[in-house]
Amino acid sequence: MQTLITVIEQIERELMISQDQLTAIAKKFKTAMEDSLADKDKTLKMLPSFLSVPTGRETGQFLAIDFGGTNVRVLSAQLAGKGQATITAQSSRPLKAADGSYNHIAATATAEQLFDFIAAQVAALVPDTAIYPLGHTFSFPAKQLGLNEAYLMHWTKEIATAGVENQDINQLLAAALARRQLSHVRPQVVLNDTVGTLLTSAYSDTHTDIGSICGTGHNTAYVEAAVPGFAAPMVINIESGNFNQLPFTRYDDQLDAASEQPGAQRLEKMTSGRYVGELLQIIVLELLAQGLFTNQPAALTNVFQQPAIFNGADVACLLADETTELTDIAAWLERRFTLTDTAISERQVLKRAAAAITLRSARLIAATFIGILLRIDPTLSRPHTIAVDGSLYEKMPGYAAAIEQALAQVFPQPAFPLTTRLTKDGSGLGAAIAVASAVAAR
Ligand code: BGC
Repeated sequence: MQTLITVIEQIERELMISQDQLTAIAKKFKTAMEDSLADKDKTLKMLPSFLSVPTGRETGQFLAIDFGGTNVRVLSAQLAGKGQATITAQSSRPLKAADGSYNHIAATATAEQLFDFIAAQVAALVPDTAIYPLGHTFSFPAKQLGLNEAYLMHWTKEIATAGVENQDINQLLAAALARRQLSHVRPQVVLNDTVGTLLTSAYSDTHTDIGSICGTGHNTAYVEAAVPGFAAPMVINIESGNFNQLPFTRYDDQLDAASEQPGAQRLEKMTSGRYVGELLQIIVLELLAQGLFTNQPAALTNVFQQPAIFNGADVACLLADETTELTDIAAWLERRFTLTDTAISERQVLKRAAAAITLRSARLIAATFIGILLRIDPTLSRPHTIAVDGSLYEKMPGYAAAIEQALAQVFPQPAFPLTTRLTKDGSGLGAAIAVASAVAAR
């Protein structure tokens, strides 16, 4: 007979990424990178950033916009040289108001509304009419033709604002700044958040050659030694979230089919904070439909069938409970969903499903890091630092450790340090560092 426990064991097996799979996925990822570099297959977009790693000696005060999809953050950063970068002022606002009063990321919103909103944040941080060089972190696949010319290829993370796809992001921003009488704010560089994270870590740690975001979205950038027509090694934004040679489950297929862009961003949909809660919901609803929750199925169904019931933070709450009776989860279910009297077996199943989803996420992402290392230094003949930012990596219990364990499985005793490191504020600070290096290079 199928019980809740036998079924969850089965689900854990389906979501497990074995060591063999880790290596196989890494090899496929490396091949996909190389196919894209050779213009054979562009599943991985491998977008040039026109940026090299900084020296750590760049100095100055710079403005930065960090536009990632959930919030827009504007900051002023001080680079003191010697690898020291500090945020001196900042403001952040959600792109979608919790009370429903505005939503700049829905299909009904326009490019002008979105960029006017961003320009208003900039205005709040600019006290006078002096010239302000600005770096713009724009965390979406953008085809870059130069440091400051980048066209949005398509939205990700379920954003749908009209009139931005295929447009030059810098021109949209410059026009909004002009409408706000902010023409003295001078955008100089557009970059991806993964590129910013890499630059921020490289500013103080010269071994950094991989930068990644494990947050609402997922993506990785790395330093490619040989880019035709570019003298120095160049940071490449892989757009790894679109990788698709992966062991999909029926849960992944269901999530993909219901998403804004079916078929796109398959790795991201298996790994990132925007989607882990949705995967959990799909699994829980399947268990409910199979009649496996017997304690209070009607109450659970009422709650769990509401759209987008879990977010990444909920998944983190489930994982954080270390009590034997899972009393923290019980309290959380009551607080969050007014669900009382849950059975311990139900709470265990929620936690185990959440753990299986996040462990899979960490191991899949580790597989892509291994793929990059296989491309740039397969024998690990020098130290490497992988800089990571994002809520999953920072806050999901056990997540960073799971990535490290997966790396250690494939590279058990590297001759040189292979380090993964949280790089907080990488996407914002990286924009300032990018402007500073662009100014220095002129
Ligand atoms: C975007 C990437 C971005 C990542 C992390 C993905 O959805 O395609 O450009 O780096 O999210 O923010």
